[in-house]
Amino acid sequence: MDFLNALQNKATSKTPIWLMRQAGRYMACYRELRAKHSLLELVKTPELACEITLQPIKAFNLDAAIIFSDILPILETLGLKLEFIKGEGPALHDPIRSANQVEQLDLRPLEETIGFTLEAIKLVKPELKVPLIGFSGSPFTLACYAIEGGGSKDHRLAKTFMYEHPDAWHKLMDILATLIGKYLRLQAEAGADVLQIFDSWAGSLGPQDYKRFVFPHTQKVIQMLGSDFPPLKKGGQGGFSRPPIIYFSTGTSAYLDIISKLDADAFSIDWRVSLKQAAQVFQKPIQGNLDPIALLAPWPELKHQVDLILEQAPKTGFVFNLGHGILQFTPEDNVKRLTDYLTSLSNRVIV
Ligand code: CP3
Repeated sequence: MDFLNALQNKATSKTPIWLMRQAGRYMACYRELRAKHSLLELVKTPELACEITLQPIKAFNLDAAIIFSDILPILETLGLKLEFIKGEGPALHDPIRSANQVEQLDLRPLEETIGFTLEAIKLVKPELKVPLIGFSGSPFTLACYAIEGGGSKDHRLAKTFMYEHPDAWHKLMDILATLIGKYLRLQAEAGADVLQIFDSWAGSLGPQDYKRFVFPHTQKVIQMLGSDFPPLKKGGQGGFSRPPIIYFSTGTSAYLDIISKLDADAFSIDWRVSLKQAAQVFQKPIQGNLDPIALLAPWPELKHQVDLILEQAPKTGFVFNLGHGILQFTPEDNVKRLTDYLTSLSNRVIV
């Protein structure tokens, strides 16, 4: 399997590719289902989530599937009610705004709030010939949503909470890390071959704040899946004692050195980072880093951008991806051309 091999820095027959948020509104078949159901209905109905996970796999030459879900439902474990409001994005009702609220959190059982995704993993796994990625938001990105109560440009409320109530902040982050670690573990047990942690908003922090307020908690998530826990599956995954973990962040080019100290197996970077520099800093497999807007470009420009990435990418230990999620305005034909192009370059890497 090229994707799993790349994550182990082994030779591959082609540059493996998958795209963050590869199932979604840019696909006509997704929009058709979405016209009949709300996003949360799609996520919470395992049969539908299974069908949507397969849509991009059937349409394009992709080397991995990602389970169709979202990073936010796990926040319902904290008692926050999740809603997607048309035209506005996600809303979390009764957000956490005081230290007292952290003290008084009454956790719901995880199986109740994310059980549908575990069911979807079990349904889709036998249908797939490519590896399946499970995922979670990171403690920081989820804490931002829990405190802001939705999306935010500057994460003012979350960061002010962090500075004003450092003890409550660390307690909340520890609660989130424990939940995320358990959730990822359950996804692996249900059949996920690889796990990705989405730290989409890490870039709103400077290096020192990331180090003090965030790093230890993200590391805890990774360690919860590590060697001091019994192996998840007999014999492990293709040479791993646990599924490989990919850590994704954006806007963090100023402190890749700190991020590289996380015990993740691979690092997913955005287009603001030079691939060469990233390979040097991480010394581990990397994933990335096409600008999602380049997928809107005419094919000659898109092909040029892809060629530049392939030129700079390390010869082993590289997974082609976007630097952030695919945009809803992306022409399906461009995704087809991109994935076909990488397939046509089979055996580019011969070791
Ligand atoms: O990759 C996949 O195919 C799996 C599906 C997936 C979704 N969300 C489905 C979704 C994944 C991996 C996510 C992760 C996610 N969700 C992140 C981290 C990745 C990133 O892009 O930074 C974040 C921050 C979220 C939170 C979220 N979900 C927001 C802010 C929004 C609204 C904005 C938007 O794009 O509409 C969502 C909605 C969402 N999650 C959609 C999909 C397909 C759009 C859905 C729709 O209305 O049909």
